Amino acid sequence: MTTQDLPPVGLYVHIPWCVRKCPYCDFNSHEDRNPPFTAYGQHLCDDLTADAHFLGNRRFQSVFFGGGTPSLMPPDALAPLFDRLHQNHWIDDSTEITLEANPGTLDLGHFAGYRALGVNRLSIGVQTFHADGLARLGRIHSGTDAIQTIESAQALGFPRINVDLMHSLPGQTASDAVRDLETALGLGVQHLSWYQLTIEPNTVFHKHPPTLPSESDLEQIDEIGHETLAIAGLRQYEVSAFAVPGHEARHNVLYWEFGDYLGLGAGAHGKITTQHGPMRSTRTRIPHHYLSRACADAHWQPIEARLIGFECLLNGLRLRRGLSAEDFETRTGLNAHDFRHQYLTRADTLGLLEPGRFQATELGWRHLNTVLEMLI
Ligand SMILES: C[S@@+](CC[C@H](N)C(=O)[O-])C[C@H]1O[C@@H](n2cnc3c(N)ncnc32)[C@H](O)[C@@H]1O
Ligand code: SF4
Repeated sequence: MTTQDLPPVGLYVHIPWCVRKCPYCDFNSHEDRNPPFTAYGQHLCDDLTADAHFLGNRRFQSVFFGGGTPSLMPPDALAPLFDRLHQNHWIDDSTEITLEANPGTLDLGHFAGYRALGVNRLSIGVQTFHADGLARLGRIHSGTDAIQTIESAQALGFPRINVDLMHSLPGQTASDAVRDLETALGLGVQHLSWYQLTIEPNTVFHKHPPTLPSESDLEQIDEIGHETLAIAGLRQYEVSAFAVPGHEARHNVLYWEFGDYLGLGAGAHGKITTQHGPMRSTRTRIPHHYLSRACADAHWQPIEARLIGFECLLNGLRLRRGLSAEDFETRTGLNAHDFRHQYLTRADTLGLLEPGRFQATELGWRHLNTVLEMLI
């Protein structure tokens, strides 16, 4: 397989620490007030060196520092990784480089350092600007902290800023949810991730469920929220992602289009296309196991043949534009027509998919979960 036949490749870097664990969060994040960032930064370099052969002649089209709270990590501790990426020409000025940042930590002092390293996109985890909402979510920042964080990022010249908001929160009304969107939009944010709160297993909220808005309130939040975003000129390009055209997140799109990526750091996943088919990598999730290096290496396994097409479409159908039949074939090695005939005849009969590509129709988009369930 030549490099030309391979999908675009991204880099995911996981930073697994937070000041405080939030009660709804099932991400690989651990409370620690004094993590060993310098050692961690060196281990990220070692991971990259070990897995770089999977790149072939490709460069990373995007890099994403996710967490956890990556903005706790001092820029100096990330510098060796950036040096390695530059020395090998694995990134250049065109690479989208995103870092997740939380308001209300010591992070603001780090922002200028990230910008100097080449980070050109910040993803700011606001969740809500509302004091009661933030308290119920166990967040450590205030609405004012969130606004200051966004404004500082803008003042420092980050060309792209995403704000993460959650909706359908305990005690939230439709007007509360819209006020959150309007506050972010009023600050000139051009990309919003607007997630409905989900109650995940192994979280405090799962053990002690909060009272969520009623079904009719949820419908109202959904409807008015989408209207607000559309009027502001943000186009929904994925289930929870909205952007001024041209500001879509390349890294997230790479995942949804079943592109390749390497994963560095505790608990990071990777996915790489090889001549034997797509492979998936996992790493130990526990930071001190990872730091001990006894079991830090990525564990690579082929993605089971019967799952490849489903995995590809479970992601691709979340994109409003879906996935072309050609992309499906190059990413999976499967025949698009045969796959569709075998698994999606019912969706076609019900008018849930556009002809010719793997894309939900208007009706299919309104019932996307039904379409996705046909693939599970
Ligand atoms: C990797 S997480 C956390 C990033 C960052 N540490 C923060 O908390 O702001 C990325 C985003 O997922 C969303 N998220 C996390 N848990 C969620 C849940 N249970 N339901 C809906 N969205 C969730 C939040 O919007 C969060 O900002
Ligand atoms: S939501 Fe963010 S800040 Fe809260 S525990 Fe999860 S990763 Fe950490």
